[in-house]
Amino acid sequence: MSLGTGKRKLGRRALLLAAPAAGAGLWAQRRFGRRFMESENLPLAGSEAEKRILAVLDEMAREGRLYASVPVSDGRMLRLLTETANAKSVVEIGTSTGYSGLWFCLALQATGGRLTTFEIDPGRAQMARDHFKKAGVDGMVTLVEGDAHQTTARLKEPIDVAFLDADKDGYVAYLNRLLPLVRPGGLILAHNLDMVPDYVREVTSNPRLDTVLYREGGGLAITLKKR
Ligand SMILES: C[S@@+](CC[C@H](N)C(=O)[O-])C[C@H]1O[C@@H](n2cnc3c(N)ncnc32)[C@H](O)[C@@H]1O
Repeated sequence: MSLGTGKRKLGRRALLLAAPAAGAGLWAQRRFGRRFMESENLPLAGSEAEKRILAVLDEMAREGRLYASVPVSDGRMLRLLTETANAKSVVEIGTSTGYSGLWFCLALQATGGRLTTFEIDPGRAQMARDHFKKAGVDGMVTLVEGDAHQTTARLKEPIDVAFLDADKDGYVAYLNRLLPLVRPGGLILAHNLDMVPDYVREVTSNPRLDTVLYREGGGLAITLKKR
């Protein structure tokens, strides 16, 4: 199925589904206030560890220490999926300055897991290291500097959650590299789904995978590797 066809087919149905949802949204906004409604806001901290990570996320955004980073809504989704999956091993391609990595760490400090993250740009890699240290998560993160098309060849351990957010024309190659390592029941998440039609075609035409296209924020293809 082409993406264009899918979008056209969705038209009327999406409208029918969206109308009651919008009504419910307005009701909840009136009842609970705007803050409750907005996935664009940082969540409330429930522990000191969480508070420390959230403070760095907040500071990075306020001081502009980001580079093509995920919006808050997507960061929250990454954390939610990772924590729900009780992931112990997360692999991220495209660290940038560590923003999405810190969202994963919010989940991993709860699951006792680890993040391995890959970045080609030395300046951004150094900023990410500084941010991980400031947030107190440097002990749970391995940052691998270099071209991930080469450096990911070292990965041997099972992966619970893989996140693709680097060079867009590399997504299919990353998928082919990481998929054999993703455990059955694990997730492959790909950011900016509208920029990677070949990748979306690949994950939606493989019967061993099930993919949901989440269109909030930058758009995320959420793929389950079936058991
Ligand atoms: C969209 S940004 C990642 C944003 C990050 N995930 C976040 O939300 O904070 C993409 C990053 O991938 C890096 N990148 C691009 N090609 C790469 C490659 N071949 N290997 C490793 N990193 C790469 C870029 O240097 C850039 O920092």
